[in-house]
Amino acid sequence: MSRHTPVMAVMVAAARKAARGLQRDFGEVENLQVSLKGPANFVTAADKKAEKTIFEELNKARPGYGFLMEEGGAVEGSDKSHRWIIDPLDGTTNFLHSIPHFAISIGLERDGQMVAGVIYNPITDEMFIGEKGQGAFLNDRRIRVAARRELTQGIIACGTPHIGRPGHEVYLTELRSVMNECAGVRRMGAAALDLAYIAAGRYDAYWEANLQPWDMAAGIVIVREAGGFVSDLNGREDMLGTGGIIAGNDQLRNQLETLLKRARARG
Ligand code: IPD
Ligand code: CA
Ligand code: CA
Repeated sequence: MSRHTPVMAVMVAAARKAARGLQRDFGEVENLQVSLKGPANFVTAADKKAEKTIFEELNKARPGYGFLMEEGGAVEGSDKSHRWIIDPLDGTTNFLHSIPHFAISIGLERDGQMVAGVIYNPITDEMFIGEKGQGAFLNDRRIRVAARRELTQGIIACGTPHIGRPGHEVYLTELRSVMNECAGVRRMGAAALDLAYIAAGRYDAYWEANLQPWDMAAGIVIVREAGGFVSDLNGREDMLGTGGIIAGNDQLRNQLETLLKRARARG
C-alpha cells in the first residue's frame, strides 16, 4: 500500500505470510475439538510454524536486526539498535477453542523505543498498524482512540491472571472498583488485540498485569500513534520491564491509573 514505509511493508508482508498458515490451522482446530486428544499439540505446532515464517521473512529483509520471540527467545543481532519483538499467536487459548479472536503481533524497537507495530487478526482480516510519526491505521482507515472523558461511559478491557500464577486477589480488588465505575468490562483473551481495539476507539481503557514484552510491543506504538497514552501500572513508561500496562486516551488512562491505585491501597 502506498502509505507503507519500506519497513512497514516488510512487517505487513511477514504478518500476512504467517497468517495464511494460521488460517488453515484454525480451520483444522475446529475439526479437532471433538477428538479425544484435543488440538493442544497441533496448536503448539501452528504457533511455532508462524513464528518461523515471521523470523525468516524479517531476517531476510533486515539482516542483522535482533529478535525477541515468544517461542524462540532472544536472538542477538549484529545491529544493536534494532530488535523485532514478536508474538506469532496472541490469544492461544481462543485459537485452541476455535474462538476467532487472536492475532499476530510484530513490534520494532529502535534504541529501546518502540517505533513500529503490526497486529493482524487473520480471521477478521483486520490489520492494525502504527509507525512513529506516521499515524495508526486499521486496514486503509486512519484510527484514533475514543474521545470519552468519563470512565462511567467507557468500556474497560482487562486480562485475568492465569491458573496457578500470582495476582488473583489483587486483580479481584481492582476489578471490583472498575466494575463500579464503568459502563462495561471485557476480557477477550488477546492482549495485542486489546491494545489494537484501544487504538481503534472500540475500548476506552485497558489494564493488565504480568504481561510479556511480545504481548505489548506492537500495541504500544499503535495506541500512541492513534493519539492514546500508555503507561505501566505506576504511571511510568516501563511497560516492557514491569509487565504492567494501562492504556486509553489521556483522561481515561489517568482516571484508570488513579482508580486502580486506590483499589490496591484499600486492599
Ligand atoms: C496471552 C494473551 C492474554 C493475556 C495473557 C497472555 P498468549 O498471550 O495475550 O490476553 O491475558 O497474559 O499470555 O499466551 O495467548 O500468547
Ligand atoms: Ca503467543
Ligand atoms: Ca501473547
